[in-house]
Amino acid sequence: MHNNDQSLSNPLPTVSMEKIVSLCKRRGFIFQSSEIYGGLGSAWDYGPLGVELKRNLKNAWWKSVVHNRDDIVGLDTSILMHPKVWEASGHTANFHDECVDCKNCKKRFRPDQSPGRCPFCGNREFTSPRKFSLMLKTFLGAVEEESAVTYLRPETAQGIFTNFSNVLDTTRRKLPFGIAQIGKSFRNEITPGNFTFRTREFEQMEIEYFTRPQEAPGHHEQWVETRLNWYLDLGVRRENLRLRKHPEDELAHYAAACTDIEYNFPFGWSELEGIANRTDFDLKQQAQFSGKDLQYKDHLTQEKFFPYIIEPSGGVDRALLAFLVDAYFEEEVQGETRVVLKFSKELAPIKVAVLPLLKKNDGIVQLAKEIKQELQKDLMTVYDDTAAIGKLYRRQDEVGTFYCITVDVQSLEDQQVTVRDRDTMKQERIPIEGLKKYLLKKFSE
Ligand code: GAP
Repeated sequence: MHNNDQSLSNPLPTVSMEKIVSLCKRRGFIFQSSEIYGGLGSAWDYGPLGVELKRNLKNAWWKSVVHNRDDIVGLDTSILMHPKVWEASGHTANFHDECVDCKNCKKRFRPDQSPGRCPFCGNREFTSPRKFSLMLKTFLGAVEEESAVTYLRPETAQGIFTNFSNVLDTTRRKLPFGIAQIGKSFRNEITPGNFTFRTREFEQMEIEYFTRPQEAPGHHEQWVETRLNWYLDLGVRRENLRLRKHPEDELAHYAAACTDIEYNFPFGWSELEGIANRTDFDLKQQAQFSGKDLQYKDHLTQEKFFPYIIEPSGGVDRALLAFLVDAYFEEEVQGETRVVLKFSKELAPIKVAVLPLLKKNDGIVQLAKEIKQELQKDLMTVYDDTAAIGKLYRRQDEVGTFYCITVDVQSLEDQQVTVRDRDTMKQERIPIEGLKKYLLKKFSE
């Protein structure tokens, strides 16, 4: 057995954003965009561990809403779309925030996000509110003229609506059915902030679920439950999640109902995902503006109508931030603080770390590298020999690695290694021959 970290005390309560941001930078989860130039406000880059975590998150979502269901197919549509799409959706006319300018520091902000005082300098005098479009404009082609204007999409949803007939014709789906998509969206947010929570470039995971109008409220309820369970199944603590139903005056122009799933972030309860009943607004609008028939035809009655749409719409970056915050624990172990990210098995960026006890012993190093080569065929595995074993354990705990495998002198004789569990810190001797099978079984439990 290696190191001596058995005794656990209770984890400390909520973590601060400073600690999360610092851990993300220090360990390669998230870096500031264009950092060498002083950074670009509100844009972030995912580092070697962040990209693994993000992929695992998106795969878990895709598996649960596409592969594990019979009624949803996937789609990947372009970010640039015909500008008429945004006229039809109402974004060109309606997608704006009210904002004011501070008379002291001259900065612009949304008064609803900081009622009564400027969030930058605290001053209480501002200009009267003005509308500010959230659409990110760009020009297509060589000439920057009005006819070449288009937008970076502010939501992935419209790519699904404009492909409704294509998917229907090619997959012969019957109601109810859904189309899922993950992709980048862009909004010229006036006050981005709270790390990756509100940014101008972000990723969405959206489902548009098409139903008969009379069945829409029932599906809406079911989707709220299904999506809440997804976060719970991936390990988020129930007490850190809550549902919030939108009052009538808060509903978007297209929605008949909306319930948010909120997370208890260090900066307060905030939206993770919205589940809206979008009615038949979008298909009707896109049909009207394009002149194409986007109705559904019932195969038995031949009746034609516009389906209603239930839309569970979540942010990849926000979900990732919530998983990070929720997984963060500080534990007192024999007088020292152990930082550990208790990610679920599905989300953990690194599943196994292989650690040689003595990096100067060629036999141990070679065996450890062979074990790593074998395990990495099935599990995301790393090798590290750059510190003493206690420090290596701490490093792996801090990024949420599920198992540490230690190769020592005895391993060369008895062909066994020590397997250490991240959460219990318990250690077991396991024969190398059965090691992969043992680990794969653990990951499938
Ligand atoms: N298609 C519906 C729609 O886009 P939304 O509530 O505006 O609805 C859905 O966005 C989700 O996208 C939000 O719950 C959030 O997770 C994510 N999101 C929206 N704006 C964001 C931003 N500026 N930065 C990061 N994530 C954002």
